[in-house]
Amino acid sequence: MASERSTIFSLLISLLVLMLFNSLSRKCNAAAMKYELQDEVKALLKWKGSLLQSEALLHSWSLPTANGSPCNWTGITCNDNGKVKEINLSNSSLEGKLDSLSFSSLPNVVRLDLSINALSGNIPSQIGASSHLVFLDLSMNQLSGALPLSLSNLTHISVLNISDNILDNQEGNPLIDTHDYMTKVCTSTLSYSHYGNW
Ligand SMILES: *[C@@H]1O[C@H](CO)[C@@H](O)[C@H](O)[C@H]1NC(C)=O
Ligand SMILES: *[C@@H]1O[C@H](CO)[C@@H](O)[C@H](O)[C@H]1NC(C)=O
Ligand SMILES: *[C@@H]1O[C@H](CO)[C@@H](O)[C@H](O)[C@H]1NC(C)=O
Ligand SMILES: *[C@@H]1O[C@H](CO)[C@@H](O)[C@H](O)[C@H]1NC(C)=O
Ligand SMILES: *[C@@H]1O[C@H](CO)[C@@H](O)[C@H](O)[C@H]1NC(C)=O
Repeated sequence: MASERSTIFSLLISLLVLMLFNSLSRKCNAAAMKYELQDEVKALLKWKGSLLQSEALLHSWSLPTANGSPCNWTGITCNDNGKVKEINLSNSSLEGKLDSLSFSSLPNVVRLDLSINALSGNIPSQIGASSHLVFLDLSMNQLSGALPLSLSNLTHISVLNISDNILDNQEGNPLIDTHDYMTKVCTSTLSYSHYGNW
């Protein structure tokens, strides 16, 4: 009788431990997923916060978001896994800088179109962290300084348009010349086709 009771008791304990473990591991998975989503959301919101008039221009960029993801936000397109694959804020009256945009938090971005805005300051070296970029259009802004060498790390890039900015004229730098050109970088070999006056 006593041993029967203790068997039942230990069965109950095992069941409890199992249930506890189950709910814990489910919690951990949920936390991990949430964290990944939040990374992109946090990066975008941080950049938004650095832009002028951003509340009026990027009203949909706010919390809470559907499914905790930024996929519904103006200018954002996600891939099938719910990761940001495209950011298109062309001609959106954006005024501010690029250096508070954490490119390393947006590793799946394939197309980035920020053309026709009033973005100023340098093109941050961190842009090289968006290593899947195929299309990058920063044309018609007020970006200045030198082109970061990290651009050469964008090995998938097929279109890089930086025309109509006030970038330095760096003779001898294979990545840069005067402010009125478009560069089409051919993949991996890093050979260039140039259009315009360089
Ligand atoms: C967000 O996306 C979901 C599904 O994709 C859609 O049903 C919903 O209307 C969207 N919400 C906004 C505010 O765009
Ligand atoms: C971005 O959107 C504009 C119009 O809203 C469109 O003309 C342009 O082609 C888009 N860029 C990309 C890379 O799809
Ligand atoms: C930019 O947007 C304005 C209106 O918001 C429009 O009048 C203009 O044609 C657009 N420019 C381009 C190049 O799309
Ligand atoms: C590069 O950007 C300029 C200004 O936005 C535009 O006129 C030109 O068509 C673009 N070039 C390419 C190849 O997309
Ligand atoms: C290119 O990427 C490699 C590896 O991530 C890194 O070590 C290197 O500093 C990058 N080059 C530039 C110019 O950013």
